Amino acid sequence: MKGLILAAGLGTRLRPITSLRPKPIIAVANRPLIHYAVDDLLDAGVRDIGVVVSPDTRDALREALESYSDRASFTYLLQDPPEGLAHAVMVSRDFLADEPFVMYLSDNLFEHGIRPFVEAFRPEEGVNAVLALVAVDDPRAFGVAKVEDGRITDLVEKPEHPPSNLAVAGVYVFDATIHDALDGLEPGAKGEYQITDAIHRLIRRDLKVAPVQLEGWWKDTGKPDDILDANRLILSRSRRRIDGDVNESRLLGEVVVEAGATVRRSTVVGPALIGAGCVVEDAYIGPFTTLGDGSSVRDAELEYAVLGPSASVRAVHGRIASSLIGASVVVEGNETRPRSHALVIGDYGRLVLADT
Ligand code: G1P
Repeated sequence: MKGLILAAGLGTRLRPITSLRPKPIIAVANRPLIHYAVDDLLDAGVRDIGVVVSPDTRDALREALESYSDRASFTYLLQDPPEGLAHAVMVSRDFLADEPFVMYLSDNLFEHGIRPFVEAFRPEEGVNAVLALVAVDDPRAFGVAKVEDGRITDLVEKPEHPPSNLAVAGVYVFDATIHDALDGLEPGAKGEYQITDAIHRLIRRDLKVAPVQLEGWWKDTGKPDDILDANRLILSRSRRRIDGDVNESRLLGEVVVEAGATVRRSTVVGPALIGAGCVVEDAYIGPFTTLGDGSSVRDAELEYAVLGPSASVRAVHGRIASSLIGASVVVEGNETRPRSHALVIGDYGRLVLADT
């Protein structure tokens, strides 16, 4: 079985975090999102992986995947411009040949990986495709499936009136019949070729699309709040490990301090991750916080937050919470007059100032 990771999207809903780097390399708990996808594919026994990229994302992704070169083989497939998930499969036709493949949307995270979906692909039982389904309260932002007698009998993309509460998560297994279903497909909403429409064709042709209900948590990381939540979910399974220097500080619970990091005169309440080379001084780091490598927090408080690599937070009076802060960003208190907020924020930035 081959793998296909879709990583050509621009991640516009995550600007400005994605202004300088593609979404698949946005870090969650200090690892690029795409590493979680590759780990899951390897765990499912898939090593021959196509990575669908755009000219804007190609170089950054190649670099991010270098560390896997002895364990997986990557073929970079250009999707220019990105015109939807079905279009990504169309541009990968030669790489995929007629082999079955598992398609993985690089902005999805699965608590227990993807093995159950790959294992449910049983051609000997007449299965042509497998979709991962998850019951959600409001499925209107997803593909939504209707299941009858152990097979998917209807599928609609982002419906106003969903036929069920079963959302399609971002992992799909297909055999070669999907390529026929892509032939002559018309673009749907936003001018994109939708994989949902192609799967709908499989269903109409009476091919077997099998559902596998997802166990554990699943996260689609489209928006900044999703990245914070994904960080929370990944940190929740971390275990205490102190490899850096800790002086005159209280570290409570599942705290990780990477090598080369220094924590002085501070309190850290886990789960929290202090990246390599960080400096934390006279600070409070609360639960579900990740500090990127080489960042610093001095005389400030951070909680439920992600700080990018080489960023710095200094002498800020109010607690910074529910915040996603990019690489090399500087946040500092103003000790002089006028007591004003002085801002330099990139396009699409977002700032919520508490009235303190
Ligand atoms: C895509 C699919 C949708 C699926 C979702 C899962 O939507 O079109 O069917 O439910 O991924 O993450 P997108 O998130 O690209 O809008």
